[in-house]
Amino acid sequence: MRTVATVAELRDQLDVARAGGLSIGLVPTMGALHEGHLSLIDRSVAENGFTVVTVFVNPTQFRPGEDLDAYPRKLAEDTALAAERGADLLFAPPVEEVYPDGFATSVSVGGITETLCGAPERRGHQHFDGVTTVVAKLFNMAGADRAYFGQKDAQQVAVIRRMAHDLNFRVQIVACPTVREADGLALSSRNAYLTPEERQRAGALSRALHSVAGALTEGETDAARLCELAHSELSPVDEVEYFEIVDPGTLEPLTTVGGPALAVVAARVGATRLIDNLALQPSTAAVSAPDTTNPTPQGAVI
Ligand code: PAF
Repeated sequence: MRTVATVAELRDQLDVARAGGLSIGLVPTMGALHEGHLSLIDRSVAENGFTVVTVFVNPTQFRPGEDLDAYPRKLAEDTALAAERGADLLFAPPVEEVYPDGFATSVSVGGITETLCGAPERRGHQHFDGVTTVVAKLFNMAGADRAYFGQKDAQQVAVIRRMAHDLNFRVQIVACPTVREADGLALSSRNAYLTPEERQRAGALSRALHSVAGALTEGETDAARLCELAHSELSPVDEVEYFEIVDPGTLEPLTTVGGPALAVVAARVGATRLIDNLALQPSTAAVSAPDTTNPTPQGAVI
C-alpha cells in the first residue's frame, strides 16, 4: 500500500487503477482507525478493485469548544492497519493541501442539517458545512465509484446522501452497520477520551436504544413514552443532548412508530460527546441498521 499526501499523486494513482479497469472504493476517515473504520475498508475491498483510505482531521467540522489539537492522530498505526486490511492507497494530506491560501468555498446542505446534531443551539449546521465541504472535495479528488460511511453517524450519512443527490455526484454512498463493543458501546475515535469510569457509564447509550427497541417489540408505539423510557436508562450519563425517534429518511421526529424508524441519541459522558442510533421496526425485534434505513431523500437506492 502506498501513502500519498498531494491531490496530484492521489489522482495519478487512481488514474492508473482506472486504466487497469478497476473500480474505486473511497473510505474517508479522520484517522485513529478502529474496527468500525476497518469494517468500511473490508467492505470496500470486497466490492471494489482498488480501495483508497483518506486520513484527514478536518478542522472546519470541529464545533467551537471542541479541541482540534487533542483529536487523536496516529498515522503510523493507521497506515499499518489499512494495509493489513487490504487497502491499496492511503491519502493523508496536510491541511494546506485541502484548504490552500485563499480557499473561500463552502458546501452547505439545508433542511436535515438543522435538526438533531445540527440544531442551532449546538452550532451543528457549521459542523455539517465542514463535513459536506471536505467530503465534496474528496469526492472530486478521487472520482470514486463507491464511498463508505458508518451508520453510527446516521445524520452525517443522510446529509452526504442529500448532497450527493443534489450536486449530481456519481459516487454511490454505502452506509455500513455500526460496530459495537461487547456492552453495546458504538466504536468511535472519541471513546479514547473516556476514563475507565466514564467508559462504564457510556454503555447507557446503547442500553437506552435497546430498551426502546424492546418496548416497541412489546407493543409500545408512542414515541413520547418510548423517549421517557430511554431517558430513565440514560441516568448514568452527565447530559442528554437529545433522544428522539425520527423518520429514517427525513430525520423528522415521529409521534407514533408505525413503520421503520430510527432512535437517535447524543449525550455527554464527562467532557466527551457521544452519539448513537438504532433502526427500529414496530412489532419485530430491533434490526441492525441496513443500508436501506438510510435511503436517499427520495427513497431511491443510489
Ligand atoms: O466521519 C468522519 O470521520 C468525518 O466526518 C469524515 C466523513 C471523514 C469527514 O471529515
